[in-house]
Amino acid sequence: MLNEPPPLTTIAEIGQHEGQSVTLRVWLYNLRSSGKLLFPTFRDGTGTIQGIVPKAAVPEHVFETLKSLTLESSLVVTGRVRADSRAPSGFELDVDDLAITQRIPDETPYPIQLKEAGVDFLMEHRHLWLRTPRQSAILRVRATIMRAAAEYFDTHGFFRTDPPILTPNACEGTSELFEMDYFGDDKAYLTQSGQLYIESTALALGKVYSFGPTFRAEKSKTRRHLTEFWMIEPEVTYLDLDGLMDLAESFLTHIITRVLEAHRADLKVIGKDITKLEAVIAPNPSPNAATDSSSRPEAAGRSGDTPVFAPAHASASTEGAGGFSPLNTPATVPGFSPGPTTEARHPERSAAQPKDPEAAHITHALNPLSATNSQTSGSSLEGDGLQPVHQTLSNTAALAAEGMPAPAPNPAGQAEGSKTPHSGFPRLTYDEAHAMLLDAHAKGLLETAHTYGDDFGSPDETYISSQFTKPVMVHRYPAAVKAFYMQPDPLDPTKALCVDVLAPEGYGEIIGGSQRVDDYDLLKSRIEQHNLPMEAFQWYLDLRKYGSVPHSGFGMGIERCVAWICGLEHVRETIPFPRTLNRIYP
Ligand code: 4AD
Ligand code: MG
Repeated sequence: MLNEPPPLTTIAEIGQHEGQSVTLRVWLYNLRSSGKLLFPTFRDGTGTIQGIVPKAAVPEHVFETLKSLTLESSLVVTGRVRADSRAPSGFELDVDDLAITQRIPDETPYPIQLKEAGVDFLMEHRHLWLRTPRQSAILRVRATIMRAAAEYFDTHGFFRTDPPILTPNACEGTSELFEMDYFGDDKAYLTQSGQLYIESTALALGKVYSFGPTFRAEKSKTRRHLTEFWMIEPEVTYLDLDGLMDLAESFLTHIITRVLEAHRADLKVIGKDITKLEAVIAPNPSPNAATDSSSRPEAAGRSGDTPVFAPAHASASTEGAGGFSPLNTPATVPGFSPGPTTEARHPERSAAQPKDPEAAHITHALNPLSATNSQTSGSSLEGDGLQPVHQTLSNTAALAAEGMPAPAPNPAGQAEGSKTPHSGFPRLTYDEAHAMLLDAHAKGLLETAHTYGDDFGSPDETYISSQFTKPVMVHRYPAAVKAFYMQPDPLDPTKALCVDVLAPEGYGEIIGGSQRVDDYDLLKSRIEQHNLPMEAFQWYLDLRKYGSVPHSGFGMGIERCVAWICGLEHVRETIPFPRTLNRIYP
């Protein structure tokens, strides 16, 4: 028994060994001493723990070795675990013995000292900087975000289909591609999004996603841009813009939930205010409340001062009223309206794929007006038009004004994406967001007035997102500032059926997505208008030729999401080895 080393464990799991002796494989992160007492801080990749080493209590070689041990030297340490409520991890280690794995010589000390260092220096030593508690904590949270993101789709009936990384043409536009020689005759480009390819796998499998690195040769030096980043992209057939927004909301809620389950201690190390994340997934108050102050941090204190935005409207029902008929078939389905329903076209399918009535019920409970909601008018910006942010207005009146019949409820039309519960992220049209920005400018809160028709700049996105505690979904941007593949809004074809999800706390866009053009002729003319090489898009056009269906998808940049969740100033800390305009080392 005496010769048996105590059981090997990790700092994260040390609580399971309270009062027992354990072995840890660690690095010396810090060392303080007060005469006959040493206080080493050890790290092992799962966390840090302070050791206590009284000279009188340990063999002399243990005390002397540790006393002169250089920082970041590697060692195996044994000791007894003691609970201490003052310790950040809740435990301390009474060290008994140690064995040095590698001692860093005094003449070549570890380059990163425990004092403030410049960002350039730290980036140059990124391979070592990753060891510091804060950077390690960020990487652990990142790992959970990536796992939770994939897990969400894996557990909601999606198939992961991997698009190629070497591609013959652009997705988002040609200017931002990394170009390479492909065996002399041909050019290849590093992918900037898997979207076009997974549109094709979606038509094969229904609900798919891709998850991989993407590349953009953007010459932007902002805190939000990397040249290589990871994107997760779902693509779903028979999903409309409303369903897509529901999907994005449910997806983000799942990720935040998982992070809060596993990383409260890490978030504390990183310095993130956890209540900000809790607010994201907290259910909104009763939809009957006059205002939703829960998702407007300022709303309570400035009521009357700041307009509260009525949200979201549902494109679906308005589409259902006749605007949305991609296959030239009158559409009549609220919530989703691809012409005839799946069941109508394929009666055998509805038997084979039973609906999930419980999930549908949850959606309706959370969004009681979802069956009759509609596009909010500009007047919703008036102070007296207050609505709960996650609630939608009845569109019956709006449709009547347009001379359109109100849609009849049809359970078969429930969009796939809206089957999952969500907590009510605010939804604003581009027009509403624009009005919000003008209002902010008029009040001196924004330096530059937003020009109608332009995309939002960083300060604009920062302002909009800072008005809410939950991510904001801004939808229906002018088609002119968006990608060629986005479906026009049937009610106003100058707008695209697209959505950008802006993270709270000024983090800006983390998700971009849209309903896709599913009509062959329209897509062809879009490719022409955007001066894209028609030959390269033949296969993509085929998808509109052979069994075209309405479909939608989005992409979320993992690093933007990590920056927001961890509260980081710059995306360079969100990925182990960031690639930016100025850096490709180490
Ligand atoms: O909005 P984007 O450009 O959309 C697409 O690529 C679509 N094809 C996705 C789709 O519909 N399947 O990019 C999607 C997300 C952004 O919202 C942002 O989070 C991230 O990718 N992103 C970047 N992240 C870091 N650095 C950059 N340079 C980024 N560009 C986009
Ligand atoms: Mg975008």
